[in-house]
Amino acid sequence: MATVQMSVSPEDLSHIPQGDEKIPEPGIMVIFGASGDLTKRKLLPALFHLEQSGLLPRQFAIVGVARRPLGDEFAADMREGIIDFGGVEASDPKLDNFVNHISYFPLKFDDPAGYGALKAELDRIAKEKGIGNNRLFYLATAPEYFAGIVENLGAQGMAQPENGKVGVVIEKPFGHDLDSARELNRQVNSVFHESQVFRIDHYLGKETVQNILVFRFANGIFEPIWNRNYIDHVQITAAETLGVEGRGPFYEKAGALRDVLQNHVMELLSFVAMEPPSSFAAESVRREKLKVWQAIPSVPILNAVRGQYGPGMIGDERVVGYRDEERVDPQSGTETYAAVRLEIENWRWAGVPFYLRAGKRMKKRATEISIQFKQPPLLIFNRLHSSGPCQEIQPNLLTLRIQPDEGIALRFGAKVPNTPDMAVCPVNMDFDYAAAFGKSSANGYERLLLDSMVGDQTLFSHRDGVETTWALYTPILEAWAAKKPQVFPNYFAGSWGPECSDHLLERGGHTWRNNLGK
Ligand code: BG6
Repeated sequence: MATVQMSVSPEDLSHIPQGDEKIPEPGIMVIFGASGDLTKRKLLPALFHLEQSGLLPRQFAIVGVARRPLGDEFAADMREGIIDFGGVEASDPKLDNFVNHISYFPLKFDDPAGYGALKAELDRIAKEKGIGNNRLFYLATAPEYFAGIVENLGAQGMAQPENGKVGVVIEKPFGHDLDSARELNRQVNSVFHESQVFRIDHYLGKETVQNILVFRFANGIFEPIWNRNYIDHVQITAAETLGVEGRGPFYEKAGALRDVLQNHVMELLSFVAMEPPSSFAAESVRREKLKVWQAIPSVPILNAVRGQYGPGMIGDERVVGYRDEERVDPQSGTETYAAVRLEIENWRWAGVPFYLRAGKRMKKRATEISIQFKQPPLLIFNRLHSSGPCQEIQPNLLTLRIQPDEGIALRFGAKVPNTPDMAVCPVNMDFDYAAAFGKSSANGYERLLLDSMVGDQTLFSHRDGVETTWALYTPILEAWAAKKPQVFPNYFAGSWGPECSDHLLERGGHTWRNNLGK
């Protein structure tokens, strides 16, 4: 398909204000579960990028907390992580000084006595570095420890100190169904006020996800057509080529619906479907998102499909099926693919199907939202070009490419030159993030870590939002748990998922858009 590139000029970019971010107040970030992958691969590199950009306060310390008896090797390991996963040069002039602010404290998460010692250690560091009482507790442990850690922090008076601001960041998964999410919310809110709680979904830290709001609410032209009168249907895809990457035991309990659909994909849906918030303040944005989720009626089980990958090819590489992955039950009934059709019963969206899917070991890595518009009422140019993509007149399609190839494309019909019969061919207007702004190194965590340190909850999930999305999906999870699938595995690694997923769309007269990416 022909493509027109859209770009910004260097003069436009020179007007973008740089460096107007709020710098957090002095404080200590305490990372529970610090010996896990997330800390080394994502959190520490992101914190160092903030330091490089001058966005961390001078008096700042990072304390890693985990069960293993580690000492100085922890800081050395984090240094390696910053270099390997943060794309940082070992010779970076800021690196050694930054690493000096990292220390480690061994703690059994379920040992109340250890928390008294942790408190004393944090007070000691704070005194030595002149930091004061601000603390941010980051829970990056296995989810079964969240409640106990929170309770112990509360029991030691660490949640509500005098003269200090304290927050708690909680990684996903936040619960594994409605009841457990409610219970966790109850436990967390019995210690921390909701304004102190940052439930993290790293998708909200992605620039392209935030750009959905900018695209919709900083531009006038799309809003009048952003509704049931003009939009035929919406597809949201989160496809990965990766398998479970050694996370078998976690994934066995999670599955694609819990792992990605209930959170990341629902966040994307809310940004696409919400009403314009009155401001970008946390309460306005979160209120509008919640209204979208609350307007979704329960999904009939027929409108939810699941799949599990068997062996196959990812590019040139032969890969094993899910049941042959490390530490996975050879008879596993866990889904590695989930898709649903749902509707949003409000004035803007009534009758517009939303198709959502998330899967591992798919043909291509691509997270995309495509919004298909209705055809014109009368197709007067019905003579089609005889071959290639021009064989049928295609409806307008707006594609928001969240990752990779970040950008936005609008497909429309154009006259094929030098054809006497007004033949129409689809072409694309394409905006490419990297071409326009240069490649961004942010992995989502930088934005979210900074926001949690300055206390901005706009890009974090609220208690009510988490419960509402769990309420929607819990009946499906229960129905699936009650009936072990007979046909797993039902898609090849490296394909576009199970056939039943195609039928889900065919029933609505639609097909999945599989030519994702650029
Ligand atoms: C995580 C899931 O939340 O998101 C992983 O637990 C998944 O299974 C990952 O691979 C996808 O994130 P991203 O940013 O690579 O799309």
